[in-house]
Amino acid sequence: MRPLAVIGNVNVDLIMGPVAPWPQSGTEIIVEHDELRVGGAAGNAALAWQALGVDFDIASNIGADQFGLWLRGAFAGYADKWPTCREGTTISVGITHPDGERTFFTTLGHLPRFSLADAFCVLDGDRLAGGYLLLCGSFLTPLIAREYDALFDWADRHDISVALDTGWPPEGWTVANKAITRHWLSRCRIALFNEIETTTLAGIGDPVEAAREIRSAMIEGATVVVKRGPQGAQAVGSDGKLFSTSAPAVDVVDTIGAGDVFNAAFLAGLAQGKTLAASLADGSQVASRAISTLPRSYGEVPDAAARRA
Ligand SMILES: Nc1ncnc2c1ncn2[C@@H]1O[C@H](COP(=O)(O)OP(=O)(O)OP(=O)(O)O)[C@@H](O)[C@H]1O
Ligand SMILES: [Mg+2]
Repeated sequence: MRPLAVIGNVNVDLIMGPVAPWPQSGTEIIVEHDELRVGGAAGNAALAWQALGVDFDIASNIGADQFGLWLRGAFAGYADKWPTCREGTTISVGITHPDGERTFFTTLGHLPRFSLADAFCVLDGDRLAGGYLLLCGSFLTPLIAREYDALFDWADRHDISVALDTGWPPEGWTVANKAITRHWLSRCRIALFNEIETTTLAGIGDPVEAAREIRSAMIEGATVVVKRGPQGAQAVGSDGKLFSTSAPAVDVVDTIGAGDVFNAAFLAGLAQGKTLAASLADGSQVASRAISTLPRSYGEVPDAAARRA
């Protein structure tokens, strides 16, 4: 198996509710449900890798409080070298609503302090040589994002394939955010965006046409994946061929991190030497299972031979 690593955001998610919008100020609302858990795009992907039993590295940072210690403990054995910054841990409080929507309140916390030097406390280029690196949470970690070019140079030197999933920018897809993302993608071998991100980035309504347009500005032989929620996922592969996978019909419990779990299972498939089609199917199958189980279950990485039978 090729090496796997993720660089990005790990934070605390506190999910509470349900609450019908919106309380009068100065009141107290008693809710039925609360859940305190590891969050962030990199955290979600790493939890999936952990559950799938694959080997990986995760580079992140933490805040100087009990939540920082709690996050380090959640990734025991992986997080020993994560630097602690002076800020408190980034906390995202998600209020669920009866219609299934959520409203998030998120502090800046430790994420803006995450730097390339922090990532290099964990990552060893020689160990990751020939492997896959998931780069995520770009717009929540602006310091390291400013250093992405040096990161791409390092990845090139070690023949590490970088897969980018920036996530949705908090201030939206401004002209500047689109331009910088297109620049980052020009140095990546894999793009992992959802449908609306893909069509918005390309300025083209059809997701497959948009994926082809994005791919045309990436490294020769790049792969562009489009995650399409209940419709599964599609990918334009290194030879320009289109692959599609459907998502199993499931009763959704909680879609948080669906795309991150997809990224983890998809890259695990590639790292295990599976084809693009099989890896796409792994991503979709594992993500759909994760969002439809409570407590969350990821299953085994499906065996390609078993699927063919
Ligand atoms: N309603 C659903 N039913 C079945 N599977 C789903 C559903 N929503 C998401 N999935 C699965 O999760 C995968 C990724 O989800 P999605 O396309 O929503 O990614 P995303 O928008 O990047 O997610 P995120 O909100 O985590 O960023 C899909 O390819 C699919 O396999
Ligand atoms: Mg996403």
